[in-house]
Amino acid sequence: GVSAEPTSGHFCGGFRAQHVSTERACVRKDSSTKKLINDAIMNNDFLKKLDPQHLKEMVDCMYERIYTDGQLVIQEGEPGNYLYVLADGLLKVTQNGKLLGEMRPRTAFGELAILYNCKRTATVKAVSQAHIWALDRQTFQSIMMKSTQATQEEYFSFLRSVSLLRDLPEEKLSKIVDCLEIDYFDKGEYIIREGEEGNTFFIIAKGEVCVTQTTEGCTEPREIKTLGVGDYFGEKALISEDVRSANIISTENDTQCLVVDRDNFNQMVGTYEELQAYLKEYVEELSRCDVRRNALPHSP
Ligand code: CMP
Repeated sequence: GVSAEPTSGHFCGGFRAQHVSTERACVRKDSSTKKLINDAIMNNDFLKKLDPQHLKEMVDCMYERIYTDGQLVIQEGEPGNYLYVLADGLLKVTQNGKLLGEMRPRTAFGELAILYNCKRTATVKAVSQAHIWALDRQTFQSIMMKSTQATQEEYFSFLRSVSLLRDLPEEKLSKIVDCLEIDYFDKGEYIIREGEEGNTFFIIAKGEVCVTQTTEGCTEPREIKTLGVGDYFGEKALISEDVRSANIISTENDTQCLVVDRDNFNQMVGTYEELQAYLKEYVEELSRCDVRRNALPHSP
């Protein structure tokens, strides 16, 4: 019979046909789509271990497929040619005719055959119209072939350019590289809300954000400053459990931030206290500067 997954090139009509072989094609998407795909991959136990640069390229290269109600996405026992992310709709997973479960939006699937080169372990079928993002095996492999070392070095030198991390010992910086994630934001989207609890630290890798804060006697938060590539925010979350002291709002579409999670950080960077002490000193230094500025409002 006809297999559920044609080999790449026939799959996505004209678009893929122009981009077969080893060339990697980036498919434009808005940041909420990137965020959805990214979240789905990060929620998958097998995929979340991939390094952030590989993950980012996977997000960039995925292309869209619409499945109709009842259409087969994956057939158990067949070779697997694609990795998928369900964006919208409902899928049913079966094995030997037995129902294993349902899949809801923001789920990555089909990873087992792609990662481990095994036959499809289950059948996946659309039970409504389904909007799916797909990545073919060839593209996946060409992304994964870019050496981790090269991408680690890119991140490493980027982090080195961030003022907060400038003097951090090399091995600490490498640990941070290991626990980075990427997050995507639309124009107008709140990245941080004043007063909320937070446990993540952000470094802007692309785009721009504005910082707003509520001041006494004003009903509306006041804009304090804008931050761009290489700037960071939320650093206080790494050293204490204070609530967020300001709003951070993306002012561009597709603002991208490198995100470090406190727990993650705690787990992966064994010498957390040391780093905490370093950050604390830095933040205290900054607030001393603030105090001085406030005390001498007319100084340059
Ligand atoms: P793969 O084996 O490549 O193709 C079928 C996919 O179904 C598999 O990868 C998983 O992503 C997914 N899958 C396998 N078993 C289950 C299960 N018990 N529940 C939900 N999804 C599953």
